[in-house]
Amino acid sequence: MIHVLFVCLGNICRSPLAEAVFNHLVQQEGLEEKIVCDSAGTSDYHLDAPPDQRTLDVVEQKKLRIDHVGRQFTSKDFEHFDYIIAMDESNLANIRRLEKTGCSTSYQLFLMREFDNSPDDLNVPDPYWGGDRGFLDVHDIVSRSGKNLLNHIRKEHQL
Ligand code: 4NP
Repeated sequence: MIHVLFVCLGNICRSPLAEAVFNHLVQQEGLEEKIVCDSAGTSDYHLDAPPDQRTLDVVEQKKLRIDHVGRQFTSKDFEHFDYIIAMDESNLANIRRLEKTGCSTSYQLFLMREFDNSPDDLNVPDPYWGGDRGFLDVHDIVSRSGKNLLNHIRKEHQL
């Protein structure tokens, strides 16, 4: 099984939406026996909380599904996940602070928008303090990037 983890700050907006979108893509390709995903936040702000209502609205509008409660990223995640995908450079820096040198596990760490189609900004913008439009923008970004990420994983694993 290939394990993919999406990481943002609060784990209530961007990463659960990325998880929902990616799960949908994996199901569309019939790969749910091969690839599973999860999400986490680098902060402890929303532990055990459901996704933000605006995330849930987009999930419903786009006919996706999400079943997730907020959790914090920990160094144990480096052992479990094959692909760790940060939503922005600040999340990436937070993840890197928990990396141990000489660790034998073989995860790969990326920014989500490294898989976007020629983005002019490598960050998935944080929609938390804005309006509903920001959540739709996040949806579009993680859909484009998620498709390319899935193709990348399929190529690497000959799926
Ligand atoms: P997320 O958005 O990292 O995409 O889940 C945020 C959620 C909550 C906060 C910041 C960003 N917060 O400050 O509580």
